[in-house]
Amino acid sequence: MGAAPFRLGWFGNLTTPEWRTGWSEDAIGWTDARYYVDMVRDMERAGFDFMMLEDSLMVSDIYAGTAELELKVGMYAPKLDPVPVVSMLAYATEHIGIVATASTTFYPPYLLARTFSTLDHVTRGRVGWNVVTSSEDRAAQNFGMNKLPAHDTRYEIAEEFVDVVTKLWDSWEEKAILADPVSGYYADHTKVSPIHHEGKYFKVRGPLNTPRSPQEKPVICQAGSSPRGRAFAAKNADMLLCIPNGLENMKEYRDDIRARAEEFGRNPDDIKIFFVVHPTIGKTDAEAQERHQQFKDDKQRNFEAQMVNFAATMELDFSVLDPDKPIPEDMTTNGHQGMFDGYKRDFGHQTVREFASGMRVASMELVGSPDTVAEQMDAAMEYVGGDGFMFLSQPTSREYTREITEGLCPALRRRGLIRKGFSHEHFRDNLRSF
Ligand SMILES: Cc1cc2nc3c(=O)[nH]c(=O)nc-3n(C[C@H](O)[C@H](O)[C@H](O)COP(=O)(O)O)c2cc1C
Repeated sequence: MGAAPFRLGWFGNLTTPEWRTGWSEDAIGWTDARYYVDMVRDMERAGFDFMMLEDSLMVSDIYAGTAELELKVGMYAPKLDPVPVVSMLAYATEHIGIVATASTTFYPPYLLARTFSTLDHVTRGRVGWNVVTSSEDRAAQNFGMNKLPAHDTRYEIAEEFVDVVTKLWDSWEEKAILADPVSGYYADHTKVSPIHHEGKYFKVRGPLNTPRSPQEKPVICQAGSSPRGRAFAAKNADMLLCIPNGLENMKEYRDDIRARAEEFGRNPDDIKIFFVVHPTIGKTDAEAQERHQQFKDDKQRNFEAQMVNFAATMELDFSVLDPDKPIPEDMTTNGHQGMFDGYKRDFGHQTVREFASGMRVASMELVGSPDTVAEQMDAAMEYVGGDGFMFLSQPTSREYTREITEGLCPALRRRGLIRKGFSHEHFRDNLRSF
């Protein structure tokens, strides 16, 4: 009995680690990124498939019209740009995949194609691109726009964007590099071609001036959850990140994505779906329950974190709401739509204060000793059908990382639930290896 083996990922947010304990030098020192280098080494040793680096491009002042709470909490700002950090993480590791977030709304496609081609080379085929369309007018205002394009239009732009960058990655054919001292040719110009793309949103000549990279195209990661987002992901992604609430919604999400992938003529097994979790681990079940209760009791901190979350990812100002009433039915967002609709559906019966002050961003609650949590994960995967979990903790800490990598992962491995090693050189091949 039990689930087939599954995969693990880590949500890396390049922001300050836990600073409130006052113990850690990382609270200030994280900006040289060595904290994340230690983390990625732990992840690789523990058998993680990937570390994903989230990103956004603004300091939000949506909540109550000021950046005070955003900067007080320090959850989304300040942060580092993930792209240069990928190189450091890759240099410190051998096998683990490293996924960087980059926005189709703000990057020019040529630059993105070149950057990720370069990253694929310097990581020796271990990079992934988390394709986001961005969710904040505040970010748009840093790029000469007043507002973001509408939600579904952003996905339409993203479709063309992915088409352009894919053509650019293909603009160097295999064997274009000869490096032949006899003929005197380094590269064969007949195998390096302009793409002459002229579409609704982009005009790009090509070819790329970076040679074909080890994976040819980075692993494509996505996190769409609205109907439009799901369609985009099912068509384009190798892996998906998601937070459907509870086992039924997790299963619905996976089944839906797989069915959509088939409609696009894809093998659904080529898309791996990762559910966000944030376990509370203790040496014993009782210790874990106690720690979980402590988390729930820290109502003010949880409330503030959720207010920042809604402001930063959905540009929703909850300060204007009565916290003792539910989220108004007619409240909508141009940001993370699928997620917000899910909140309204699953927590709409609670007041804002109730759900925000006790909530953890996760698909399911996992609390217990390593063995207990391993069993809960096993049972969940068996019910849902696959494919893995992504650990998210905001903020994170060395302590928390170790609880997962040195406590939980060995318990999972003892049960044969996670990988023992990496059988392939490249990230995509490892992802698809079981
Ligand atoms: C686990 C997870 C991680 C995400 N990371 C980012 C990120 O780093 N940057 C970003 O702009 N959006 C991020 N998103 C947002 C998604 O790209 C997407 O906009 C969101 O899930 C809403 O999709 P929808 O608009 O199709 O509902 C993330 C979403 C999830 C679930």
